[in-house]
Amino acid sequence: MPSPSLTQLALPHVARLHAYTPGLQPTEPGWVKLNTNECPYPPSPRVAEALRREIGADGASLRLYPNPKSSPLRAAVAAHHGLREENVCIGNGSDDILNLLVRIFGTQATPTGFMFPSYSLYPVLVGIQDGRSAEIEFDRSMRLPFERIAASPASVFFLTSPNAPTGVAFSNAELERILTTFRGVLVVDEAYVPFARENAVSLLARYPKLVIVRTLSKAYALAGIRVGYALAEPELIGLLDRVRDSYNVNRLSQAAALAALGDQPYYDAVLTRVKTTRDANLQRLTEKRGWFTYPSQANFLFTEPRNARGESGAAVARSAYDFLCSRKVLVRHFPSHALTASFLRITVGTDGEMTALHESLDAWLKSTHA
Ligand SMILES: Cc1ncc(COP(=O)(O)O)c(C=O)c1O
Repeated sequence: MPSPSLTQLALPHVARLHAYTPGLQPTEPGWVKLNTNECPYPPSPRVAEALRREIGADGASLRLYPNPKSSPLRAAVAAHHGLREENVCIGNGSDDILNLLVRIFGTQATPTGFMFPSYSLYPVLVGIQDGRSAEIEFDRSMRLPFERIAASPASVFFLTSPNAPTGVAFSNAELERILTTFRGVLVVDEAYVPFARENAVSLLARYPKLVIVRTLSKAYALAGIRVGYALAEPELIGLLDRVRDSYNVNRLSQAAALAALGDQPYYDAVLTRVKTTRDANLQRLTEKRGWFTYPSQANFLFTEPRNARGESGAAVARSAYDFLCSRKVLVRHFPSHALTASFLRITVGTDGEMTALHESLDAWLKSTHA
């Protein structure tokens, strides 16, 4: 008998797994990078100062493990939201927290719920745990199907608000409708909420099965630092602490995140700029180009390109995507489903980057005249 291969030795659900596909991160310069919803502006200057301070002259502090609970950062996050430290758990990016939540609640018998389209990592996390997905599809309106969520067999349900890739946000009244009808844990993934009009933090006091997940990757311009967090009841935070890695957030990331949270006026200015650029470009896409675009409360726009003949659809979106790529403008196309295939998701960049985008879109339009 031949000896089994490594994949044959792996657990069957791992052998079957397809890894998450992150957006491209080109290494050569010159790209207008509008594909992964990063912030187009640098983080607060206090972040680099804090990193230098943490490293010191010779990096000696790096000999030592970090604070295992990220306690000073928990305190700072709690203060930022008017909560207590017991309401906060810090993660190695919010992906870490999302993974831990699936680890706590998701099995074959207790499925993990989420909407489609939304953040495509959720089903991957379920697959890693050998769990079962209970997916509910939006229709083109992208409004929440409350009855279907209420009837979901899921023990934990992930709702992204503002949603990705559409940018559509759900109001607290809508979230309350779910919280009062769905029997499991509702995780509201608020990765993009700093760009929105409303957030769900005020609901925490009334709904013990609500978990809010945030990240510093987007609004705090720290995707490279990998810090996210959960806000919830102390009981839920205790569950997260049981299953997370004991040193899940490194020293430099803790220092950087603390410095960022300490410079709110800087970030308020960044948010204002991103939102102004977003709203101007939403108007340009919808009113000037006549392209259907969802009303975004995030830092990206989900738009349905039309060619010079007025046609839209998956092939048209692909053609625009490829043309933009050839001009080193990188956006995101999700071709595998009818709800997303005719759209492009475009991260809000600087005004200069958005001008470059529109110049390339004009050139693409011309190229489709024939
Ligand atoms: C909805 C949503 N949640 C979470 C994340 C992950 O954030 P982090 O960088 O904190 O892991 C993303 C990243 O794109 C996202 O779109």
